[in-house]
This record gives sequence, C-alpha cells and structure tokens, in this order.
Amino acid sequence: MKILVTGGAGFIGSHLIDALCAKGHHVVCVDDLSLGRIEHIAHHLKSTTFEFIQLNILDESRFDALFSEHRFDCVFHMAANSDIQEGATQLRVDLEKTFMTTFITLNCMQRHGVQHIAFASSSAVYGERSTPLREDSGPLQPISFYGAAKLAAEAYISAFCENFDMRAWIFRFPNVVGERATHGVIFDFIQRLRENPHELLILGDGSQEKPYLYVKDLVSAMLFVWERTSEKINCYNIGVSTTTRVSKIADIVVEEMGLQNVQYRYTGGDRGWKGDVPWFLYDLHKITELGWTAQMTSDDAVRHAVRALLGTYRE
Ligand SMILES: NC(=O)c1ccc[n+]([C@@H]2O[C@H](COP(=O)([O-])OP(=O)(O)OC[C@H]3O[C@@H](n4cnc5c(N)ncnc54)[C@H](O)[C@@H]3O)[C@@H](O)[C@H]2O)c1
Repeated sequence: MKILVTGGAGFIGSHLIDALCAKGHHVVCVDDLSLGRIEHIAHHLKSTTFEFIQLNILDESRFDALFSEHRFDCVFHMAANSDIQEGATQLRVDLEKTFMTTFITLNCMQRHGVQHIAFASSSAVYGERSTPLREDSGPLQPISFYGAAKLAAEAYISAFCENFDMRAWIFRFPNVVGERATHGVIFDFIQRLRENPHELLILGDGSQEKPYLYVKDLVSAMLFVWERTSEKINCYNIGVSTTTRVSKIADIVVEEMGLQNVQYRYTGGDRGWKGDVPWFLYDLHKITELGWTAQMTSDDAVRHAVRALLGTYRE
C-alpha cells in the first residue's frame, strides 16, 4: 500500500515507519521538523519506497498538492503537539498542531478520495477517572488542552467517516517510551541528572502512577488492529496492564546512570502540572480479545527506555 505518515520524523512516527517499511509498504513521510528529527528517519532516505517531505500541514495548499501527486491508500496521522505542558500556557498550540492538522488532513483526504485514516489519540481524552478507562465509557471530559484537541479531532474523524464514507482507526495511546524519545518524564530526568547529578527535581509528589508502553509494542498493536478490523470506526485503547510510579522511574534512572546519594526535590501536590492526570489504568479487554497483548511490562519498558536513551543499550 502507499501510506502517508504525518509527523513521521517524530519519536513514535519514525518507529511506525520502520514497521511499515519492513512490511513492504511504500511510505511518504510529512513532517515540519518542529519537534521531530531528520536522524530518526535517515536510514530510510535512500530507499526507493520511501519519501520525506518537510512541510507544515497548516500550509494546506502545499499539503493538498501532495495528495494530487500521490494516490494514498491510508493516512497515519501522527503529527501533533507533544508538549502537553506547553499547551497549558500557549493556548493555540494544541488547537493548531493537534486539532487543525487533523481537520486539514481530513479535508485533503476527502477532496482526493482517500478513505482510510489511522489516528494517534491519547488517554488524555478520558480526563481524570478513578476506574479503568474503557473505550465506550463516558462522559469524556479532558482536563488538558491537549486532551481536548485530541477529543475534538476524534469527533471530526467520526463526522468525516459518516459524511464521506471513510473508515478510521482511533488508537488511544498511554505513555509511550523507548528509543528516540525527545520528551517525557524519562527524557527529562536524564537531562536534569546530566546537568546536576546530585539533585533531581520531580514534578508533583512522585506518587503519580501510569502505564508506560514500549514504543515497539505500541506500533505492533497499531498494525495488529489496523490489519484485523474493518468497522467504520475502530477505536482501541493500546496499553499494558501494569503501571510505574514516577518515584520508581526516578530510582531506575538514577540506578542506570550509576549515581548515588541523589537528593530528590519535589514540587509537591498530587500531579506534575495543571492538566496532568496523576493516575490511570486502561481497560484492555477490547484489544486483548482481538488477540494482542504487550510483550514488556511497564517497569521493563521504563528500564529499557532509560538504557536506550543513555546509550547503554543498542538495537
Ligand atoms: N509519546 C507519547 O507518550 C504519546 C502518548 C499519547 C499520544 N501520543 C501521540 O502520538 C503522536 C506522536 O507522538 P510523539 O511522542 O512521537 O511526538 P513527536 O513530537 O516526537 O512527534 C510529532 C511529530 O509531528 C510533527 N509535527 C507537529 N506539528 C506539525 C505540523 N503542523 N506539520 C507537520 N508536522 C508536524 C513534529 O515535528 C513531530 O515530528 C502524537 O499525535 C501524540 O499526540 C503520544
């Protein structure tokens, strides 16, 4: 198939491209490199079945021209703002990078008769809950602008599917970790400890606890579901049944960096920032019944990701 991956130079998009290329698909990657890195996809640049186009999706006429040039079978829309904290202060960031990129992608697809979209959504659409998150549980009340933009994007995808005979795969990701990550708690802890190996600033009180999924498990789940389901809208939580506390992530990072006597300094409160969901767990019945489960536990994924980012583990 000929597949467009938006945000393909990003952390997750680049792993998705690796998997799609390995399966023999022809991949066109669009990224404005605002958050992504060319080195994440450098190993594909010489391939005759891969093309990279540096482009901002918000430049709709240039993006639309790409759809005239190529006949895409499916779009994997991964481009978004991945800096959730920035979205809390820069109120247009999620509206533009997360929502408008989706709306423009859907518009171009509709104009050019591309009927299949796979979308990188998030646990953030659920908001804060005290029970495991199920795909069909409501009401969906996000507490971050990032989650709000993802939910609005899901809603538009649903309406486009109904009005233009499209089909969608909506994947609700948990926290994703692994090689090439350029943001997130593990990345931040390593950066801070490299700057000052004696003290680590931890946002919140360290008791936040969430499932961390290894990026290659995530990509395998996306393709597993995409290849096996054919409803008009196929919405799946992708996750792992175990969780890791933020304080444990700090311990793992300190241990793997070979540091001792590191003082933890907490900003306090039960969450990292306003809009952060301090605890969640997915109900994974739907994807489990389809036949997929993660290979790595949350703790193992965290340790593996720490080693990958430190360069003490290589693929
Ligand atoms: N990493 C996670 O834990 C996580 C969790 C839930 C959902 N997601 C979603 O998964 C997707 C990928 O996330 P990631 O962690 O790889 O983030 P990332 O920042 O590494 O990747 C996003 C990519 O989109 C690109 N991009 C942003 N705006 C663009 C625009 N206007 N035009 C073209 N390219 C643009 C960026 O340059 C970047 O390469 C995102 O949609 C994100 O919201 C990620």
